Amino acid sequence: MKVNQAEIIISAASKKQYPKEPLPEIALAGRSNVGKSSFINRMIQRKNLARTSSKPGKTQTLNFYRINESFHFVDVPGYGYAKVSKKERAKWGKMMEEYFAEREQLRATALVIDSRHKPTEDDCLMYDYLKHFELPVMVIATKLDKIKKGQRNKQLKLINETLEMEDDDILIPFSSETGEGKELAWTTMLKYLNG
Ligand code: GTP
Ligand code: MG
Repeated sequence: MKVNQAEIIISAASKKQYPKEPLPEIALAGRSNVGKSSFINRMIQRKNLARTSSKPGKTQTLNFYRINESFHFVDVPGYGYAKVSKKERAKWGKMMEEYFAEREQLRATALVIDSRHKPTEDDCLMYDYLKHFELPVMVIATKLDKIKKGQRNKQLKLINETLEMEDDDILIPFSSETGEGKELAWTTMLKYLNG
């Protein structure tokens, strides 16, 4: 997939700021610091269009990117970061609910999981939450460059089983560092965007 155009449209804190343009959307979801923003950058081959950081909590709003004039990537703040106040947690919950429960043009969500670890309870909750809205979920097992080749299959199986993934949902081994998995992620996204 060749990306000719990629630009940020808006960083939205609430739904009245969402873009009105009815382009289909792919949203990200996942723990803080797992690599959601890095996934977007790798997919569109831009180094830091979606801002990343080695510290958790970098993305704080819903960030809408328009890609090739044909769809939106929606980057979201992560969950599961301990140093977050009750008030901020509630704000996060409202932001997620407003988006995932109501956004008509949302076609699928890329749930990003750290391939080195067993999915957390929050990861399982997020998967179930997305399925509750009957949304297709592509599970992106990222940071694959950080595990030994011999460990991969075991980790992928652990992710699939822990999330209790539905048969229709696909698990994509991925690395934003090396670009592995990019082709499969594009094929899958295009299927949802065009379907
Ligand atoms: P929040 O916005 O805080 O929720 O985080 P995020 O999920 O957007 O994570 P981000 O993309 O900012 O990446 C967090 C850190 O992980 C950065 O230091 C990235 O360079 C690193 N990282 C992300 N993906 C990969 C990967 O596939 N491999 C390696 N080695 N590092 C990665
Ligand atoms: Mg981010």
